[in-house]
Amino acid sequence: MTTRIARTIAIAAGAALFASGVLAADLPPLAKKDRYKVGFAQMESNNPWRIAETKSFHDTADTCGWDLIATDAAGSAAKQVADVDSMIAQGIDVLFLPPREEKPLVPAVMKARAAGIPTFLVDRSVDPNVVKAGTHFVAFLGSDFVDQGRRVAEWTLENFPGDTGIIVELEGTTGSSPANDRKKGFDDVMAMHDNMTIVASQSGDFARDLGRQVMETLLQAHPEVNIVYAHNDEMAIGAIQALELAGRKPGGDVLVVSIDGTRDALQAIIDGKMGVTVESSPFFGPLACETMMRYVNGETIEPWVKVEDRIFTKANAADHIDEAY
Ligand code: AHR
Repeated sequence: MTTRIARTIAIAAGAALFASGVLAADLPPLAKKDRYKVGFAQMESNNPWRIAETKSFHDTADTCGWDLIATDAAGSAAKQVADVDSMIAQGIDVLFLPPREEKPLVPAVMKARAAGIPTFLVDRSVDPNVVKAGTHFVAFLGSDFVDQGRRVAEWTLENFPGDTGIIVELEGTTGSSPANDRKKGFDDVMAMHDNMTIVASQSGDFARDLGRQVMETLLQAHPEVNIVYAHNDEMAIGAIQALELAGRKPGGDVLVVSIDGTRDALQAIIDGKMGVTVESSPFFGPLACETMMRYVNGETIEPWVKVEDRIFTKANAADHIDEAY
């Protein structure tokens, strides 16, 4: 009971400290123990990527000595913040957080920091102008999303068979770090090529069905589209469905390019319906364990523990489909 009250006070203090911008620079320590109460606050479970990420944490729990508390915010940033509040109240030792959006999740990081809980951001980041690795949270574990977008653009430039590219872009969740960065990486490269025009760019919220619906609408406004860049594979598959329904030929008269490396995307590449997917791995459990143990052992963790991504095309998709999710 006393612990619960102390945690509640800490949560309130976190909000106050956040408002005043006053926080100590030293990160909270994490003592060596046999078992750790670990929080993993997932944002949603509406696609294979998220399910694979959550499974990776569950699969790692035993070997890393984690008593895992895993939640699912069902696509709501407000619920994700509340889930973190609840984990703090339950006395977690460490928090792994994939923040759904950059700004709304800042309070969750601040509250965990004020409660003395070392926090690792996994796969997505929060607003870097407000919270900093090494001060408010230990480190960000994840891919270089700008580079992913850049690599998709470069592959497209090398492999698009036509002279003039008319591009529709399906963006991820508005305000999320992968949507912001994958857009920047791709758009910046395309802006340097006069024969490439992005005629429409709209969010499909990283979801297959919304990607399909958005693509259906955009196809009516831009029937001349010949390249679709989706910020993730689920939206790419949705776009392929919309294109086929409209009588178009993905992989024939429309080049579809994307990011993640899901099983369905690799199959679409093998079937000739998609050109490329740049990998964005969801398997964070082992890296989370390793980084946490380095922290426990007193190592200074680099602010960004970078994940290296492969690229999947017709040349290698069949070799990797069995390991895909
Ligand atoms: O943050 C990574 C992105 O989030 C993945 O590309 C996407 O599939 C997921 O929902």
